[in-house]
Amino acid sequence: MEYLHHLTVLCSSCLKGHIVLSNYVSADLICPVCQFRYPITNRILDMIPSSPSPKKIIQSLMESKYLVQVYDSLFWRHSPFTMALLQITSEREFGTFYHALTFSRQQRVILDIACGTGIYTRKLAQKMTASTVFGLDISMHMLNYASAKIQENGLANVNLIRCDAKTLPFNEEYFDGVICSGALHLFSDPQQVLMQIHRVLKVRGRFVFATFYKPSGFFFNYLARFSTKFLGLTPFGIETLKRLLKNSNFTDMKIHHKKGLWIIASVMKT
Ligand SMILES: C[S@@+](CC[C@H](N)C(=O)[O-])C[C@H]1O[C@@H](n2cnc3c(N)ncnc32)[C@H](O)[C@@H]1O
Ligand SMILES: [Zn+2]
Repeated sequence: MEYLHHLTVLCSSCLKGHIVLSNYVSADLICPVCQFRYPITNRILDMIPSSPSPKKIIQSLMESKYLVQVYDSLFWRHSPFTMALLQITSEREFGTFYHALTFSRQQRVILDIACGTGIYTRKLAQKMTASTVFGLDISMHMLNYASAKIQENGLANVNLIRCDAKTLPFNEEYFDGVICSGALHLFSDPQQVLMQIHRVLKVRGRFVFATFYKPSGFFFNYLARFSTKFLGLTPFGIETLKRLLKNSNFTDMKIHHKKGLWIIASVMKT
């Protein structure tokens, strides 16, 4: 079966050309308007061919090939430590995401932003075989791992793209649902990412996310400042989160999980 469906991405160089994704596995893709060439490596469309800007500690870790080896395992994403920190297992978290998406149609197009090793991209693709799932991340190491797993599992309905969440290479109202697990706190400009998500989401579509949450109080304020400055990880106070979502024109916020330092919530585009 064809790996990539008859879908298009928007050229991030000229923001005008629509690049058709079908019929490629290894050849570069070229924008029909500005002729910019996007390489494909290991079935990943690379929309950041030049080197991205310098990273803080946590993001450098995310882009390290050593972390990727253990990320999807009992030593990290499925470890008792991670579960204790987030106070939810990844299976239950995925169930929460899936239910919160509340789809009403059979064939959908879904975006997993900052998909990492594709832990939820793969689960979505497995559950929704008639749909297409896009997994997007800035880290090539993460995406390489995701790509290997996708091929191992024989999933033909996933498209992987390397790009920055700040500039989503898609038309307005392209997706029926968008998810983002464990990455909002890593973005340098979460407001811009949220506005982009709002732009590419269809009306009445939901955006579901999980992120680090900052309880109120002096200790947590101090910890958050330290974490932002030195690690590049910014947990959100609930009021900040509400404000960012409202400024991006999202409505109908639902909180599905809020325990310890982790929050899972969803919003709608109206
Ligand atoms: C903790 S991992 C989460 C991966 C996956 N969603 C999960 O739940 O396991 C965070 C991911 O965010 C990605 N990321 C960070 N900043 C990004 C950006 N600006 N654009 C796209 N991806 C980004 C990292 O490369 C990393 O793979
Ligand atoms: Zn172009």
